[in-house]
Order: sequence, then structure tokens, then C-alpha cells
Amino acid sequence: MAETKDILTIRDLHKDFFIQDEKVRVLCGIDLGIAEGEIVAIVGPSGCGKSTLLRLITSLETVTSGEILIGGEPVDGPSEKCSMIFQEARLFPWLTVRENIEFVISDQYARAKKKKMALEYIELVGLSDFINAVPNQLSGGMQQRVSIARALVTRPQILLLDEPFGALDAFTRMNMQNEVLRIWLKDKTTMVIVTHDIDEAIFLSNRVVIMGKNPGIVKKTVSVDLDYPRDRSNLEFLEIRRTIMKEFIES
Ligand SMILES: Nc1ncnc2c1ncn2[C@@H]1O[C@H](COP(=O)(O)OP(=O)(O)O)[C@@H](O)[C@H]1O
Ligand SMILES: [Mg+2]
Repeated sequence: MAETKDILTIRDLHKDFFIQDEKVRVLCGIDLGIAEGEIVAIVGPSGCGKSTLLRLITSLETVTSGEILIGGEPVDGPSEKCSMIFQEARLFPWLTVRENIEFVISDQYARAKKKKMALEYIELVGLSDFINAVPNQLSGGMQQRVSIARALVTRPQILLLDEPFGALDAFTRMNMQNEVLRIWLKDKTTMVIVTHDIDEAIFLSNRVVIMGKNPGIVKKTVSVDLDYPRDRSNLEFLEIRRTIMKEFIES
């Protein structure tokens, strides 16, 4: 195979789970290459293995067969190369915004440096006025911003987002999508975002990977060659939406 410049390479990946002593194939022959600086969205029916795929990339699960390479190196255990964002912000309720972010920064940095790093990322997500707030003083959207700052402060090569805005109302969700784009335009961190919201996938990503179920496979990949920021009512946007919807209806 030719040399690849992809930051993330997935080759012929299979994942089986044993459920009540029975082997269940969850992912089957996944091939995926993601270039540095790309935003790739993954959509697919519930249970098709999207979360499992992200968990394999971060080594929260072990591969049954196949390969996952980050920067050309096989993944072999959790590392700072990847950060994950979940549907719930998963913050420590007794720590302030700043403390929640400092918590994940390595102790190799002096206290003052840690503080400076935390403040930089709090500013990036627009929460400078809430440095000393604790999570329950923040709205759901603000808590999710803290989790984004916490995920980025370790400077991961890849940011993995698993339905990150699924628990937010439609208005907050759109704000957060704009926020993610604003951050991405600034630092171009490679992102893989799992979402059940097709508009969100098209609004954010360079490519939408459509998965099928039983077992989980990549059915189709759709490129989104539209300039940012994107207009959700634009004809091309709607055309891409229709292509993706068609895959869902046919499955
Ligand atoms: N730890 C596990 N043990 C057994 N089965 C699992 C485990 N994790 C996920 N599964 C199964 O794998 C399938 C895919 O799950 P998941 O990756 O969460 O799907 P998605 O995120 O696309 O909804 C489901 O059928 C689920 O029940
Ligand atoms: Mg999931």
C-alpha cells in the first residue's frame, strides 16, 4: 500500500463482542483514512458501532483484528494523542471551571504554567467570565464548552466527539456547532464527530461517513465541498442531505 499522510488510518478493522457467550460481530472490515486537519462526521443507525469505533481509536476497547494507526504508529493504549468528548460533559462537580481543566494537564508543568494554559483554553471557548464557577452554575451548553476546553488543552492530535450536542436543545446545539467551527478554524485540530443529526454532519464536516448495521460497515462516504460558514438552506447543502437520507432509507 502507498505511503499515506493520514493522521488516522484504520485498516480492515473488525470488532467482536461476546454477549452471553455468543460472539457478535459489531464492526466488520472498516477502512478509513483521515487527513490532518480534516473534520469527518460519522452517521449511522443506533447500534451500528459508532461509539465502539471511537472507543477503539482511543484504546478504550481492544481490536479483534485489523489496524489503527495514529501518525503512522499503531495505537497501543490510551495516550494524549486523542481526546474524547461525550454527550454529557463529565466534569467534576466540586471543581471550578479552571480546576476542571487544570486537572488534566500534566504535573510536569509548574502551577503557574498550568493556570496560564487553562485560562487560554477557557478564553478560546468563551468562558472567561466563569473561571471560578462550578459546573452546576453553568448551562448544559456552557458545561459542554468546558469539556471542549479540557479536551483541547492537552493538544491532542485528534479530537473525537461522540454525539457531543445530542443532549442540548436545538438552539444551543446550533450555537455549539458554530463554536466548534470557530475553534477549528483557529487551530485546525483533526476531528471525528459522531452524530445522529445529518444537518450537523454536513454543516461541520469535510466528509460524512455513513455506516450500516449488523454488522457495522462503512456503506458510503460523501464529500462536502462547501465553503465555511455553510448555509443550511443552500441548494448544494440540501442536495448532499438528500444523498445521505437516501442511504438511511435504503438501509
Ligand atoms: N462492551 C460491550 N459488550 C458487549 N456488547 C457491546 C459492548 N459495547 C457495545 N456493544 C454492542 O455493540 C453494538 C454497537 O454499539 P455502539 O458502538 O454503542 O453503537 P452506536 O454508538 O452506533 O449506537 C451494540 O449492539 C451494542 O449492544
Ligand atoms: Mg453511540
